[in-house]
This record gives sequence, C-alpha cells and structure tokens, in this order.
Amino acid sequence: MTVKNLLVAQSGGPTAAINATLSGVLEAGLNSPHIGRVYGGFHGVEGMLSGKVVDLTPQLSDPEALRHLALTPGMALRSCRYKMPDPKKDDAPYATLLELFKKLDIGYFFYIGGNDSMDTALKLHHRCAQEGLDVKVIGVPKTIDNDLPETDHTPGFGSAVKYVCTSIVEVARDASVYPAQSVMVVEIMGRDAGWLTASSGLAQRAGGAPHLIYIPERAFDPDRFLSDLRELMTRERHVIVAVSEGIRDAAGDYVHADLPGVERSVDSFGHVQLSGAGRYLEHLIKTQIGCKVRSIELSVLQRSAGHCLSATDIAEAAEVGRQAVALALAGESGKMAAIRRLSDSPYRSDVVAVPLEKAAGLVKAFPSDWLSEDNRTLSQEAVDYFLPLIAGEMQTPFAEGLPCHFTFAENFVKL
Ligand code: F6P
Repeated sequence: MTVKNLLVAQSGGPTAAINATLSGVLEAGLNSPHIGRVYGGFHGVEGMLSGKVVDLTPQLSDPEALRHLALTPGMALRSCRYKMPDPKKDDAPYATLLELFKKLDIGYFFYIGGNDSMDTALKLHHRCAQEGLDVKVIGVPKTIDNDLPETDHTPGFGSAVKYVCTSIVEVARDASVYPAQSVMVVEIMGRDAGWLTASSGLAQRAGGAPHLIYIPERAFDPDRFLSDLRELMTRERHVIVAVSEGIRDAAGDYVHADLPGVERSVDSFGHVQLSGAGRYLEHLIKTQIGCKVRSIELSVLQRSAGHCLSATDIAEAAEVGRQAVALALAGESGKMAAIRRLSDSPYRSDVVAVPLEKAAGLVKAFPSDWLSEDNRTLSQEAVDYFLPLIAGEMQTPFAEGLPCHFTFAENFVKL
C-alpha cells in the first residue's frame, strides 16, 4: 500500500464534540504507517477552494494536543455553509479541489458535518471517481440536530442534550424561588427536527420541568397552547415550556415569521436563520394570560458549552473519527461512518459504513409516537434512547478560572 496524505475539514454548525471527532481522525492518521502528512482544510470546502490548507503534523507533536483538541468546543478547522454546485452546470470548484488533492498527494479526505456536508462529500466522491483519482472520501457525522439518517445518533447531540436538560433544571430551580405565578419559555435549536427539543423531556427526571414540549414535526396551534397552559397553571405555580426554534403553524409557516425587529439571513442551502419562537410565545402569554413570563433563547450556547460535555458523546465522537480512517484505509469511499447502537443498557455501539446517498441532504424526523399527544411526556422508548447519550461528565480544561481552548496556527501551505 503506497503512503498517501490525509486531508480533513469541518463544515456546517458547530457542536461541542466535533473537535473530538477531528482528534480521532488525526490520531488514526498520525498512527497509520500508510498515511504520511495530516492536513487540515480551513473553513471547509469554501476555504479549500482558496488554498486554506494547513499541514497539521508539526502542530500535533505534543501528545497532549489531541486530548486538548478533543475537549475544545467549536470547530478548530473553522467552518462554512457552502453548497457545491451541480457539477454538470459548474465544474470549476470540483476542478480546483481535485487539483488541490493532486498537489498535496491526498489519498484520504474526511468531511465532518451534517446532511448538507454529506452532500458535499458525496459529490466529491463521484467527481474523484469520474476523474479516476484514487481519493477515498468519507463523510463523518456531526450535528446537534440529530437529524442525519442512517446513524443511530450524531456526535455532538449528546452534549447538546446534556446542556439543554441542565439548563431546564436550572431555569426551573430559578423560577421556583418566587411566590408569584410565572412561565418560562426555553427556545431550543433544531431547525426542522425536534430531537433536541424533545430530549429536554429527560429533565423531568430531575424535578418535573419542562411541562410542555413543542417540536417542529407537529403543527403548533396557539389556541390549544393557551388552553393547555391555563389548565397547567391551575396546578403548577411555575410552568416551564420547551419550544423548538422551528415550530410552524398548520399552514407550514414559522409561527414567528413576522416577529418585528428580526432580520432573517438565508444561507446557500436556503436555510433561514431561525430565532424568535420563544419571544413569540412570551408575547402570546403576556397578552393573552398576563402573568410574569420570560423567554430564554439557548441559541449557540447549547452547541458550544465546553463546561457541560457528555463523556459518552466525547468518547464516541473520537471513536467515529478513528473508525472513519479505518474505513478509508480498508478501501471504502463514498461512505458515511455511522453509529450503530448495539444495546441501551449497558450502552454499547460500534461504527459501520453506510452509503453517503442515504444521508446526503436528507432529514430524519423525530418519531411522532415518542412524544405524548398532549406534548407533555416522552415515551419509555425515547427515554431509553436519549439517556445513555448524556452519561458521564467532562469539561474543557480551565486556566486562571477560564475555559482554555485549543487552536491551530493558520500556517497555510504554499501551493
Ligand atoms: O447545524 C445545526 C444548527 O445548529 C441548527 O440547529 C441551527 O438552526 C443552525 O445550525 C444555525 O446555524 P447558524 O449558526 O449558521 O445560523
């Protein structure tokens, strides 16, 4: 087997575990006798198109570096939201990337990302094959949304669930101190899929909140919401509501589409930047019920919280990275390194190759029967699924009382 170089890049929204996956890829690359240099593409394919590639090999000589990287949230190689065009209409970016692969003698390319990034990996795999260029392309999953098909769950999701549930427990604790009746609305990310919002139901095990859960897969009815809330308020002094950023009405429109003062940007995949579902509910409650109400948008905090990592998530994220390299070395290409659950208790999983076609650009919805029809409780199946993913605590190293993140020097190679 001839020695070839490895190139890895990250894309899409950050998670707290995506660097653990990166550390796994790099560790396996550095340890393989079949891999020479390990390169990082900065800002995903968008940065690679302008030559933003760093030889990471000399920056990883300290054995502690990979461990520090694994516990650092965000994306050490930065990110992009860049949609590769249809190659039949515009081949230029493909030609540039293939030229880059040739110049750097790349034999293995890993793209860590969500559904859109799997689409990029698939297109590159096809284009390399068409050119007869022997580059093994493997998609490596991540996303706090957990909406990628064909993998039991996505690395990064478990840490986001842990942060969301911890926040709900803390918000409920805070609300509980006052005698006056109140409602707290917690807005959770997840765009088209309710996995993360629904997972907040786990927090009920630590005190009862959230009392109501709204996911994008179910049409939101404001009248029913208000009557459910009024009924709950006859029994609960403090009600906590978990709401997805992506809730829509029966017509399929975002309920907060017309929220004043919100400018919505759209990325190259056509995804609208969502925010405001919590504020919409806050306004509804204030005007229709009139009690004390606060909305809390967890926003990017839920995907960047290095102080509240799931140890299971971090370990598994790194393993997915290592196994992605093993798959490429075994000759696989055009595949995604997917997590397969072997058992819930004790929790066990392994990593298998699935065709990228089965995940690229697709969304896995939250199973409707995992949340009760009254939007209040998770099914036992859902609890069994979520619970192992948040097991164990880990955190980013701290220095002088502050988080200390790993960074790469951006010494771009001369091409
Ligand atoms: O990629 C997942 C995600 O975190 C979604 O939950 C969210 O809607 C989106 O990214 C936000 O993306 P951005 O930070 O690019 O606005």
